[in-house]
Amino acid sequence: MKLKGLSCYTKKASFALTLLATVGLLACSDLPQPTEHDTAQAAQINPDVWPSIQSSVPKDLKVEKRVATLLAKMTVEEKVGQIIQANIGNITAEEAKQYNIGSVLNGGGHFPKGNKHATAAEWAALADDFYAASTDKSDGGVGIPLLWGSDAVHGHNNMVGATIFPHNIGLGAANEPLLMREIGEITAKEVRASGLDWTFAPTLAVVRDDRWGRTYESYSETPEIVAAYAKQVVEGIQGVYGQPSFMDEVHLLANAKHFIGDGGTYEGKDQGDNRDSEQQLFDIHGKAYAVALEAGVQIVMASFSSWKGDKLTAHKALLTDVLKEKMGFDGFVISDWNAHASINGCTPDVCAEAINAGIDMIMAPVTWKAFYHNTLAQVTSGKIKMTRLNDAVTRILRVKARSGLFDQVKPSARAYAGDQNVLGAPAHRAVAREAVRKSLVLLKNNQSILPLNPKQNVLVLGDGADDIGKQSGGWTLSWQGTGNTKADFPNGESIYEGIAAAVTDAGGHVELASTTVTYTRKPDVAILVYGEDPYAEFQGDKKNLLYVDQEQTNLKLLKELKAQGIPVVSVFLTGRPLWVNPYLNASEAFVVAWLPGTQGGGVADVVFTQADGSIHYPITGALSFSWPKTALQFALNSDIQHGYDPLFAQGYGLRFNDKSELAQLSEDSGIDLSTIASEGIYFKDGRPLKPWVLTMKDNSALPVVVEGGDFQSTNHALKAILVDRHKQGDSRQFVWTGKERASASFNSEEVLDISRQSRGGLGFGIQLRVDALPKGELNMSMSCGEGCQGVIPLTPYLSTLPVGQWAQLNWPLTCFEAAGVDMSKVNGILTLEAQTQASISVNDIRIVTQQAHYQPCP
Ligand code: BGC
Ligand code: BGC
Repeated sequence: MKLKGLSCYTKKASFALTLLATVGLLACSDLPQPTEHDTAQAAQINPDVWPSIQSSVPKDLKVEKRVATLLAKMTVEEKVGQIIQANIGNITAEEAKQYNIGSVLNGGGHFPKGNKHATAAEWAALADDFYAASTDKSDGGVGIPLLWGSDAVHGHNNMVGATIFPHNIGLGAANEPLLMREIGEITAKEVRASGLDWTFAPTLAVVRDDRWGRTYESYSETPEIVAAYAKQVVEGIQGVYGQPSFMDEVHLLANAKHFIGDGGTYEGKDQGDNRDSEQQLFDIHGKAYAVALEAGVQIVMASFSSWKGDKLTAHKALLTDVLKEKMGFDGFVISDWNAHASINGCTPDVCAEAINAGIDMIMAPVTWKAFYHNTLAQVTSGKIKMTRLNDAVTRILRVKARSGLFDQVKPSARAYAGDQNVLGAPAHRAVAREAVRKSLVLLKNNQSILPLNPKQNVLVLGDGADDIGKQSGGWTLSWQGTGNTKADFPNGESIYEGIAAAVTDAGGHVELASTTVTYTRKPDVAILVYGEDPYAEFQGDKKNLLYVDQEQTNLKLLKELKAQGIPVVSVFLTGRPLWVNPYLNASEAFVVAWLPGTQGGGVADVVFTQADGSIHYPITGALSFSWPKTALQFALNSDIQHGYDPLFAQGYGLRFNDKSELAQLSEDSGIDLSTIASEGIYFKDGRPLKPWVLTMKDNSALPVVVEGGDFQSTNHALKAILVDRHKQGDSRQFVWTGKERASASFNSEEVLDISRQSRGGLGFGIQLRVDALPKGELNMSMSCGEGCQGVIPLTPYLSTLPVGQWAQLNWPLTCFEAAGVDMSKVNGILTLEAQTQASISVNDIRIVTQQAHYQPCP
């Protein structure tokens, strides 16, 4: 069958329609009529740009018949329930039954019964509850088993004890597609051990601007590398159609994401706008999808991002005309976490636009119930056509049937389910360790200092040396990868632990000093492990590629070691290439370890020789991303030859026998450091960060700008005094005399959009000390322009704190939103106002992610 036109209404004949008509589900005239917007989108599309793909999973008439039979028995309520996915923390099994919900997910940091340490058996038990609920037919329903999806994006990373592999950027540096297949297989098996059916992986983003906070989820800036991996990962996770492995008890559903162009947004902004031409959209961001579809991937997740200003979540031309019709995708398309809420005309509770554009399953994690009721009403009113709903349900049922779900027993009774021994099994960890070894990239090795002989005195330092959470990065046991301790990684090994084992076994001497140069035996060599702290999604977006080294701790360590004549090997933990010239200069050798995951021992395997001095493992990693010469080279891609001038080109990576001396590099980052504000941090070290300015005001019309020393408001109703917490003058004490109403405000001329942070559940945190409890009302507020603000009475919270002691208070940003703040227009991050006597000291104000420690809203 040959495709003639793109969509039914533009050319009156199309592949998908003919096909659907063949299985008797859809007639052309039943399709929703195009809106002007759809027509504009369709006009941007040239079908010749996109290939027709033959999936290796063919249409099977038995499956189609089975699906059609089920569909015919379903009520409209059951159909609407089928296309909704809820988060396990926001739905009970009883509700899943009542609403015939088609799917659940565990969002990052959501666990069965909220228990991070839940065992495989406990996960499988919850899966049983949902399974039983969904297959219940006591209400006369069809009883379709639900699918449980999870972000197993570098191993089954939401489960304590699982094998956590290097993040994709490190796997890209390993440049070994077949290793990907093994990793896919192991991940699938570990996910099966918890009783789940589907992983939201692989991410096929081809990242073109490394400022994006999800750069580490990408295998490479090079489309061909990502495409080569796509086939292997998909087959690793799902098995191969026609072979016994396909969706057997150790395989599960894979999910290519985020369709399409997520890695190419303008300025590398998360959920931003891709402005590529259509040809570039396919050539750069689409090739890996073609390969994944061919390999039989059954689920595709639509991207949060836009193409030329149109959000993918409601992009009919790309989702329906291109992906489903031209590329022949017959599985289902899921939207991303609440992504529909950002479509014009939609809210978290309702979005016919997304469904009509081609989203088959809506990820409405929290608001699923309202979404259900509203969608039902929209189907009744005809805003969503029954044919579209039937198509969506058919696709979901088809995938369920192909995955074997209809012929399964309850989750806990499936092979390996509930078997804790599968998680972090020694054979799995060995593959992860191999992946770590192969992902290491050597950027500098002056005087061939590496590999090191283990029979030496070795000093290990750096805050990344003995921290499995830090070495694993985001999407590790919590969404942001923060808040983890060693106890959370029973099957993990820190980089230091691996080094200690290698050195001790060989008869050497090792010491761990972490953040100061201290030792009992003068070291022959030091290994400094440092780099980025964990982040996920937009929390990792940057304005440039400067490596942020708080208070230059690591640079100072490097310099001190140098002063003592101790040679240093830097092991750099990072989710992307960063400008680190001063660190390269101060190290004899520099190894990029990316975010290696739980098997930190892989670093020592390579960095040290065997006890007899022979090479243990060679170093083979090669950059799959170009490395910048300045902090401003963020869109540095090897296939754009014009002006390509990296410090290290894509493909670079020294071998141990390369005799290469890296000369001193320029330490000019290309940016004026004084102009940089730290994102999400507003007040630190006693000073507001740019662009924020601290002012005080009382009844006098003149605000006083507070800069440097101690200040008073014009009528002396409020004082701002520099006080010490950790160091001199790192905090501000505000003293209200009670004379008249007075306030201190952190304002900016630039408007800040933190709506995304608010939607993502982030919080606003203040580190403060109550010096004298307010005698009456002390309010805090956030403002959003003329007459726009949200006030929260602070006194009740302060009353719970011990006077004279530092404490951290956090509120979800949504508290401010509920109090009236328009989060997209914040120009005053905090105002403290009182008319009464009071005194509090403030040390730090920032956006926080520790969702567990929130205060209730007033
Ligand atoms: C991310 C997806 C993820 C989903 C479910 C979203 O915020 O963009 O990659 O699969 O959440 O956790
Ligand atoms: C969830 C993640 C999700 C994110 C999206 C978080 O609260 O835990 O799974 O990707 O929100 O904003």
